Amino acid sequence: MSSANSVTGSIARAIDPMLQSASAPEQAVPDFPMMPLGQATDMGHAPDGTPLLDPRIFNTMEFMRNPYPYYKIMRDHYPVFHDKLHNCYYVTRYADITDCYFDDEGFNTIPKGSSSGVLGNTQLELSGIEHRRRRNLYGQHLVGQSLNHRVPAIEKLAEQMISNWDNLTPEQGVEDKGGVRSIQLGKVFANEFPIRVVCQVLGFPEESQEDFYYWYNSMMSGLGGSDTQKQGLEARQHLEDYLEEIVEARRKQPTYLYDNDGKELGKDVISKLCESKIDGDYLSTEEITSNIALVVGGGGETTRGAILNMWYLLLQHPDQFAEVVADEDKWNLAFHETLRHSTPIGGQPRHNTFDLDMHGVKVPAGSLVNMVDFSANHDDRIFKDPETFNIFRDDLYSGKLLRSGFAKEGKSSHMAFGVGPHLCPGAWISHQEAVVGSKILIKHMKNPRIRVDKMPKDIDGESLAPIGLISVRELWIDYDLE
Ligand code: HEM
Repeated sequence: MSSANSVTGSIARAIDPMLQSASAPEQAVPDFPMMPLGQATDMGHAPDGTPLLDPRIFNTMEFMRNPYPYYKIMRDHYPVFHDKLHNCYYVTRYADITDCYFDDEGFNTIPKGSSSGVLGNTQLELSGIEHRRRRNLYGQHLVGQSLNHRVPAIEKLAEQMISNWDNLTPEQGVEDKGGVRSIQLGKVFANEFPIRVVCQVLGFPEESQEDFYYWYNSMMSGLGGSDTQKQGLEARQHLEDYLEEIVEARRKQPTYLYDNDGKELGKDVISKLCESKIDGDYLSTEEITSNIALVVGGGGETTRGAILNMWYLLLQHPDQFAEVVADEDKWNLAFHETLRHSTPIGGQPRHNTFDLDMHGVKVPAGSLVNMVDFSANHDDRIFKDPETFNIFRDDLYSGKLLRSGFAKEGKSSHMAFGVGPHLCPGAWISHQEAVVGSKILIKHMKNPRIRVDKMPKDIDGESLAPIGLISVRELWIDYDLE
């Protein structure tokens, strides 16, 4: 199994209380057996035949690795499930979740949980006008032309990282033997690549990248709980101290991004933030730090998970992988289907402002209501045969992301980036990172295949472990050097 204690776990726990409960295997209730994938353990039936759902299942490894049959029970029988054990509600159908995400007044995002201590007060936790004002501060720099011009720089970064593989040792994730190279894709590429890209776009000096990666990792593990929070807070303080000088300098003299030919592309995000005002006041250094912490925190683990999940799934479907290799435009399809099938972010908490009656369930104002994006992405009212990974499915929208969720032509977008006012502003940049990075990777890897002996296995001891609720942490790939 992918480790529940991974950094992925930490960020997921910070923004997804459902995982918080699921990530405590020591509290696991032994009565629930591990089931073949796709089958739920029998928890009894009501007199009318409705399957019962015991919320203690959420604390088990079984649920971590095989959540989808349980989500199906919820969607079909308890579309708003009142979990009296964890004192919250789960909304599991695609259409209901979309409605709730759009209802910015009825469902607010405050409080987000433990993330605010480390990240600071960010837009993630705001609703309404306050949210809109902050969201507009830098969102435009992560999309559109300004980002498209950065593609050559993203490619260059990927090339640099890959060319360094020749210098790495087995401990660092590269092992050569008999004309075959084994790499741990997370260690040698996916863990750092998204952070480095974002670091560039924000406008951090290249020499700060290593410090930045360290602060990032510490802040992320600081989201994991009280034991690591101190480390996270310290890292945030270091980042803030470091930024103070940069901000002071850039308030006087903004710095710019350039393309590979040296053509100026506009101010970097830090310089932009330095000149931004809210209600007539410039943003303080602390506010700028919080924005930066959120952009990096929101974009690192998620994109890492997307890249590793995509390669893990594609390499387990060689026919689909061959199509992607033959036509690199298909990486786009693979990216979106990966985010539908196995999104790195499983859901978002909201609090309802008013008393509600949803599907006959009374939800008092102020309740914790979890929107389960994992379940929306596997809702068979929207996606046929949802458990199957198929980059050619005809019901998934894979064009430009729409805040409206539902798209034209009878296709629907996946829910991995959310919808509505909080729709992920980093969706396009993460797409570019995953797709552009993969196109470069594949040029350097001949006949790539999963190194099965190094990978975690499922309960039969032979099959590769499913992704379940926690993204792939380590992915070992063999490829031919000649
Ligand atoms: C595959 C990669 C990613 C996934 C799955 C993802 C997922 C999400 C989701 C589901 C939300 C909505 C939160 C909510 O509704 O409360 C969100 C918000 C956010 N994401 Fe991402 N994200 C990804 C990559 C990125 C990247 C690369 C960045 C930055 C460069 C980023 C920055 C943000 C920010 C700043 C927000 C807060 C938006 C707001 O509250 O208005 N994300 N992300």
